Amino acid sequence: MPRDRLLEQVAGKVGAVTLLTDKVNDEFLDAAGDQLVIVANYAVGFDNIDVPALTRRGVLASNTPDVLTETTADLAWSLLMAASRRIAEGDRFLRAGTPWIWGPMMMLGQDVHHKTLGIVGFGRIGQALARRARGFGMRVLFFDAYPPPEHIATELGAERTENLDELLEQADFVSLHTNLSEETRHLINAERLHRMKDTAVLVNTSRGPVVDEAALADALRDGEIFAAGLDVFEKEPEVHPELLALGNVVVIPHLGSATVDTRIAMGMLAAENLIAALEGRRPPTLVNPEVWERSQGS
Ligand code: DGY
Repeated sequence: MPRDRLLEQVAGKVGAVTLLTDKVNDEFLDAAGDQLVIVANYAVGFDNIDVPALTRRGVLASNTPDVLTETTADLAWSLLMAASRRIAEGDRFLRAGTPWIWGPMMMLGQDVHHKTLGIVGFGRIGQALARRARGFGMRVLFFDAYPPPEHIATELGAERTENLDELLEQADFVSLHTNLSEETRHLINAERLHRMKDTAVLVNTSRGPVVDEAALADALRDGEIFAAGLDVFEKEPEVHPELLALGNVVVIPHLGSATVDTRIAMGMLAAENLIAALEGRRPPTLVNPEVWERSQGS
């Protein structure tokens, strides 16, 4: 919905289901009015919502975790495979009608099996990716400023690195699963790309601004890393023109959770959150539960 229409439509409403493309900020809250009870985001990420502003005004905010974990991990895995084995490039090559004959040096990629996967952000989706990597006999490293309990890493056979640079230097594949915050904006910048192996593949299914796209384009062009698979972009829906010009990057339009089952599950969970709040029940997946506790006098 265009912004002006959204602001007009939300006026006087008690609840709103928002998309990751809707900025929920003071302007939105002013337009809605004081009767607004809940903003139910149709996404697990909620960087589009100014949560402190909602909390200050006593408005509940919810997201859609869990229901998209496996689907998003599948997509990250697909990008990892596609970028390392040059799937999209091969497809474009054939469609262009390029003359070819099988040859030993043709379109060589990087092996995935038995290599080292580095997972940045070891929450639900990062852990789901680690489970997939086990089937490929990979060594799994992870970095997370707020790591999960130790037994989770042990069960997944994943090793925690003390810092991000250590992970970047050792990993053959780096997959990003952090949320977007001021701390993670441009987490992957020119200096960090430089630390990666020149055979490495970067996958991003988190949020575009976690990667400095101009620096990534330079690194891919100059052979500082081998390839990248990107589902999200810094200035979405725009894609950096230099990335589009490169053969060693697979780009897809933010499809992480885009399966029929998962999108239905996300819709159901967003609706469940909305209806619970309006019926005076605790919404199942709140991102600011303190607002609920406050409203219950605890
Ligand atoms: C999310 O949920 O945050 C994804 O980016 C879209 O499903």
